[in-house]
Amino acid sequence: MSNEQTKPKTDEPQEEPKEQPNEEQPAQQADLPWLEETVTVAGDGKAVVQNLEDLLIVANKERNLPADYEPKDLVTPNVPFPFKEDLPKKKLRKEAALSLEVLFKAAEDKGMNLLAQSGYRSYDTQVSIFAYNAEQKGEEVANKTSSKPGQSEHQTGLSMDVTSPEVNYELVEAFGETKEGKWLAENAHKYGFIIRYLKGKEEITGYKYEPWHLRYVGVEHAKKIHEQGIVLEEYLQKP
Ligand code: DAL
Ligand code: ZN
Repeated sequence: MSNEQTKPKTDEPQEEPKEQPNEEQPAQQADLPWLEETVTVAGDGKAVVQNLEDLLIVANKERNLPADYEPKDLVTPNVPFPFKEDLPKKKLRKEAALSLEVLFKAAEDKGMNLLAQSGYRSYDTQVSIFAYNAEQKGEEVANKTSSKPGQSEHQTGLSMDVTSPEVNYELVEAFGETKEGKWLAENAHKYGFIIRYLKGKEEITGYKYEPWHLRYVGVEHAKKIHEQGIVLEEYLQKP
């Protein structure tokens, strides 16, 4: 058997062997705020969210926001609402508000008729909303569509419920079948928003499909989440 391949072809000094590309370490993915690393367990056994200012913050049935948490940079986006009063629910955190304005402008340019219905909610407001829903439907049924206080991401100031005249400005599943709902599902990620509660992911999110509930995470993450067809909990599950 010839060993020709291993012989130097000239007397010139040979370069140090280069590392083969397949031996190189893959580029490390930037560390995300993994679910299990962003909570601490309180004395009463409840997991309390720690990364409160993070755009990838997760509040859900297993992850509670502190009752006194209120974002410091809430502003009212310049978008249409179906009511005139200057209520706290018009507000979002600043970056989310500015991005919502861009999204609404793009939607309008495409002939969409979107309105913003409900954004920021304080812990105390969620106490009243959940108590009302629980009284109407029972706590368990209510909790499929309405968060318990401390578990609503509306408290983060990063979520806005949106609607359209075609569904009479209501927050209903049929919104997902309107041209506005379809446009959002296809385009919201370009402006940094995801549809937070997807159909088929109820076991993971803990909530029914909500085609109207936009959650701001920033363009980079929204694109990845959209492309993979996953929900925020899956995106932040440590590999
Ligand atoms: N409807 C969502 C789950 C909330 O109440 O926060
Ligand atoms: Zn919502």
